[in-house]
Amino acid sequence: MSFRLQPAAPARPNRCQLFGPGSNTKLFAKMAASSADVINLDLEDSVAPSDKDQARANVIEAIENVDWGTKTLSVRINGLDTPYWYRDVVDLLEQSSDRLDQIMIPKVGCAEDVYAVDALVTAIEAAKGRSRKIAFEVIIESAAGIAHVEEIAASSPRLEAMSLGAADFAASMGMQTTGIGGTQENYYMLHGQNRHYSDPWHWAQTAIVAACRTHGILPVDGPFGDFSDDEGYIAQARRSATLGMVGKWAIHPKQIALANQVFTPSDEAVAEAREILAAMEDAKASGAGATVYKGRLVDIASIKQAEVIVAQSELIAKG
Ligand code: COA
Ligand code: MG
Repeated sequence: MSFRLQPAAPARPNRCQLFGPGSNTKLFAKMAASSADVINLDLEDSVAPSDKDQARANVIEAIENVDWGTKTLSVRINGLDTPYWYRDVVDLLEQSSDRLDQIMIPKVGCAEDVYAVDALVTAIEAAKGRSRKIAFEVIIESAAGIAHVEEIAASSPRLEAMSLGAADFAASMGMQTTGIGGTQENYYMLHGQNRHYSDPWHWAQTAIVAACRTHGILPVDGPFGDFSDDEGYIAQARRSATLGMVGKWAIHPKQIALANQVFTPSDEAVAEAREILAAMEDAKASGAGATVYKGRLVDIASIKQAEVIVAQSELIAKG
């Protein structure tokens, strides 16, 4: 480890973030009753411009009056290039109850975007005497966002989570696709006559995970648009989990169970991790730094890998 230690990410489950438009009040109770760890009430792109004011009022009312249980409750505000975002922040912070945990800032392109929201939030919190500090989450969904991902991850002590937003990201990058996440038909290598599909989201995901882990933030995979494709969702989520992401969005309730399944370490994985930790305890007791487990090398790095899985499962069991 470097002299500068890697900070721990917030210790809360974030396997699934369920979205619903702030204009669709009928969904709120259903969202609250779901098994998603995080709820994202949306004021941004799922709300038409003519509905922005009403959606904001709906969300403020629902924060107070819907029983959200122990879920992390977040509101996605409008982007900093719109005329709506300041009013979102002012009304949410002045009028919503302390039950609001988090604000999600979309289309973040540089650290100053987060700084601007932080300055406004900090002033309103002080003016209103709010007892709980609002946390932030951001979406990386533009060329600028991914180019500045590390400075964004370092931008505010309020920042707890960062998601990849595949659709806006693809548009900003000029990618030739209209799919929201998942396999893209034209992204393949040829081996003889056989097509081998690669993952066009891989680089952005790993860049986000590295920035997040450096600064103690939860890396999250964003939406998967085709909600009739369970297999595609699971495949995408498994790739994200393998790369270090802790969860994925659901834009339809049927995706919640899929995310929870993928991002909850399996009993077998946890049992194996515990066995590796036990094997390393034995090795340490006999003065060795490495040993053999099921025919393969395990060493001090394996302890840390196994601890990730055990810690994740304990967190979820608690949450
Ligand atoms: N949260 C909770 N419940 C939801 C839901 C959501 N996001 N979306 C749909 N449901 C409910 C429906 O109300 C319906 O409930 P019912 O069985 O009691 O009638 C059930 O789940 C099945 O819904 P379905 O008919 O399949 O979908 P729909 O046509 O009503 O809605 C969408 C489809 C995509 C418009 C809707 O899921 C939605 O608005 N998703 C969120 C979009 C969003 O927030 N985007 C921004 C982030 S990318
Ligand atoms: Mg977006």
